[in-house]
Amino acid sequence: MAADYIVKDISLAEFGRKELNIAETEMPGLMALRDEFGASQPLKGSRIVGSLHMTIQTAVLIETLVALGADVRWASCNIFSTQDHAAAAIAEAGVPVFAIKGQTLVEHWDYLDKSFMFPEGANLILDDGGDATLYVLLGARVEAGETDLIEVPTSEEEQAIFAQIKKRMAETPGWFTKTREAILGVSEETTTGVHRLYELAKNNQLPFPAINVNDSVTKSKFDNKYGCKESLVDGIRRATDTMMAGKVAVVCGYGDVGKGSAASLAGAGARVKVTEADPICALQAAMDGFEVVLLEDVIDSADVFITTTGNKDVIRIEHMRGMKNMAIVGNIGHFDNEIQVAALKNHKWTNIKDQVDMIEMPSGNKIILLSEGRLLNLGNATGHPSFVMSASFTNQVLAQLELWTNGAAYSPGVFILPKHLDEKVARLHLGRIGVKLTELSAEQAAYIGVKPEGPFKPEHYRY
Ligand code: NAI
Repeated sequence: MAADYIVKDISLAEFGRKELNIAETEMPGLMALRDEFGASQPLKGSRIVGSLHMTIQTAVLIETLVALGADVRWASCNIFSTQDHAAAAIAEAGVPVFAIKGQTLVEHWDYLDKSFMFPEGANLILDDGGDATLYVLLGARVEAGETDLIEVPTSEEEQAIFAQIKKRMAETPGWFTKTREAILGVSEETTTGVHRLYELAKNNQLPFPAINVNDSVTKSKFDNKYGCKESLVDGIRRATDTMMAGKVAVVCGYGDVGKGSAASLAGAGARVKVTEADPICALQAAMDGFEVVLLEDVIDSADVFITTTGNKDVIRIEHMRGMKNMAIVGNIGHFDNEIQVAALKNHKWTNIKDQVDMIEMPSGNKIILLSEGRLLNLGNATGHPSFVMSASFTNQVLAQLELWTNGAAYSPGVFILPKHLDEKVARLHLGRIGVKLTELSAEQAAYIGVKPEGPFKPEHYRY
C-alpha cells in the first residue's frame, strides 16, 4: 500500500523530531494536558481533520491529540507555511499528513480533501481560517443542487476549490452531505475563520457547533499580539536582511495583530506609522506613540508596508505604483487578498529566492513582495515561537475535548470556552517562566466579588 502521507522529504524526520523535542520543553500547556488526560483517553473514537499550518508547534499539538486518544489526519491551511521537517516527523510517527512548503493551490485543496479520508469518515474539524469547514459546507450545498455557486469562479483560489469539489463529487457522489452530517463540530483558530463562522451562523448555514478558539483571551491577546511581536520582524529579516533601524514602516490595522506588528517593528528600531479605520484602535495607536496616518499620505515616503487587517484590498495597485524604489511589501493577516497581488501579475517579476520577489512598476521603481502576499511570518520565517503557540493550542485541545465529550449539549452556533478554562490555560504557562501568582485571601476575594480560585474577571472585562 502506498504511504498515507505526502511530505517533501521523509528523511527530514530526524531533524524534525529533534526540534519537536525542544518545542515540547516550551509548550507546558500541551504537555500538562497529556499528563492530565493521557491515561483516560478522552478523545478515543474521535477522528479529527486538522487544517492548520504544519509547523513544529503544530506537530506538538497533533501528538497531544493523539496522546489523548484521537485519530488525526492533517493538512496545512496555507501553501507556504509548512515546515517540511515537522511534516516528515509527523508522517514518520504514523499520522497521515499532507503538506509541502510551496505546494500549489490545486494541491492545497487536494491535500485538504485527503485529510478527510478516514476509512470511517471524519467526525471533528480543527480549522485555521475556515478552509476545511468551507470545503465540506460548500460542497454539500453544491451537492444539494446549488450548482450556480461554482459556475463562475473568479479567482485562482476559487477555481482550485471548485475543481476539487467537482472531483470529489464525481468520485464519491453524496460524500459532502454525508460528511457534513457526520461532523460534530469545529474549533477555529483565527480571527478570519471566526469571522466566516459568524457569517455562516447568521445565514443559518452552520449545521454544527463551532468553538471560537481565537477569542479565548489566552489566544488572541497572546498569539496574535506577542506572537506577531516576535515573528513579524523575523520574517522580514529572513526574507530581506534589510536594516530595520531608522526605516519608516507602515502597519495597516491596529487590532491584536497590528499591535504586535507595530511593537515588533518599533522594537527593531523602525519608525512606525499606523493606519486604522476603527476610532478606538486609532486612538490606542496614537496613545501608544504611533503616528496614525492615511496610507495615501505616506505611500511615497515609507520603506516597509505591512497589512494586518483581515480585510481585502488594503494595499492596492495604485498604492504599489506610488511606492519608492525597493519598498518592502508584506501581509501578516490570514489571506493574501489584503494586497492586490493579482493586479501585479502582468508586471515584471524577478524571483530572488523562495517567497521573495522583486516586481517592477511602470515607473521603473521596484518593490520587494514577501510570500506573494500570503502571511509572511509563516511564509518567510517559522511563525510564532512555541511558548505562545502552546497557549493557543491548549485552547484548541480543550475545545476539541469539549466538542467530543459534551458536543451534544450544544446547538449549532459559535461559542467560546468558559473563563475558568481560559484562566487554566494561562495558569499552565506561568511556571515555565517563573511567574509567582499572588493568592487572594477570602476577605480580599469577597471584597472584589470573586472566588479566591477565580474566575477573576467578569465576562465583559477586556484585558
Ligand atoms: P482585529 O479585528 O483585532 O484587527 C484588525 C484591525 O484592522 C481592526 O482594528 C480593523 O479596524 C482594522 N482594519 C480593517 N480594515 C482596515 C483598513 N482598510 N485599513 C486600516 N485598518 C483596517 O484582527 P486580528 O486578530 O488583529 O487579526 C488580523 C488578521 O491576522 C486576521 O486575518 C487574522 O486571522 C490574522 N492572524 C494572523 C496571524 C499570523 O500569525 N500571521 C496570527 C493571528 C491572526
